[in-house]
Amino acid sequence: MGFTVAIDGPAAAGKGTISRKIADQFGLAHLDTGLLYRAVGRMVAEGAEPLAAAQALTPEDLNHPDLRSARAGEGASRVAVIPEVRAALLAFQRSFAARDGGAVLDGRDIGSVICPDADVKLFVTASDAVRAHRRWLELSAKGDPIAESEVLAQLRARDARDAARDAAPMISADDAVLLDTTELTIDAAVELAADLVSQRMRKG
Ligand code: DC
Repeated sequence: MGFTVAIDGPAAAGKGTISRKIADQFGLAHLDTGLLYRAVGRMVAEGAEPLAAAQALTPEDLNHPDLRSARAGEGASRVAVIPEVRAALLAFQRSFAARDGGAVLDGRDIGSVICPDADVKLFVTASDAVRAHRRWLELSAKGDPIAESEVLAQLRARDARDAARDAAPMISADDAVLLDTTELTIDAAVELAADLVSQRMRKG
C-alpha cells in the first residue's frame, strides 16, 4: 500500500487547492471525494433514487461539467446524510486510497472513516467570514452576482448539515493536524502541509 494523505475540512477552507498541490508535488494520485457526492446529487436531481445512483456511479460521472456549482454542493450535502449512499461509495474510495503509488483524498470523513490509518491527516479550516469571502471572490470572477452575505449563509447551512448528520459527520480525527488558513496565503498553507508530508515520508 502506498503513502496516504487524508485532508478534511469544511467548504472553502482551501483543502481542494492544498490537496491538488500536495498530490502534484509528491507524485500522488488525488481524489476529491466531494465529487462523488456531487455526482450522486446531480443524478438524484434528475430523478434517480439516491442509493441506485450511488451504486451506478462510474469514474466518468465525476467529469460532468456542472458539479462545481453551489447548487451541486447543496445537493451533495443532502445525499451525503444517507448512510446507504455513504456505504455504497466506501469501496471505491478505499481502493483509490490503497493504490501502490500513494494517494491524497480530500473530503469530510477521510481521516475518521475512509482512511483511519492514513500516513498524514490534516483538518483544514478557516473562519466563516474568510471562507465566505474566498468563495464569493471565486463566484464573482465567474460572473455570478450573488451577495457575499448570501454565500456566508449558504456555507453555514451546509457546514451545519455536514457536521450534525449521524452518518460519518465532518469531524477532525483525533490524530489530525489542524491547519487554520484564516490568516495564511494559499502558498503558505501548502508549504506547511508539504513540510508535514515530507517529515512523515522521511520517518517511513
Ligand atoms: O467538498 P465538497 O464541497 O465538494 O463536498 C460537497 C458535499 O459532499 C459536502 O457538503 C458534504 C459531502 N461530502 C461528504 O459528506 N463526505 C465527503 N468525504 C466529501 C463530501
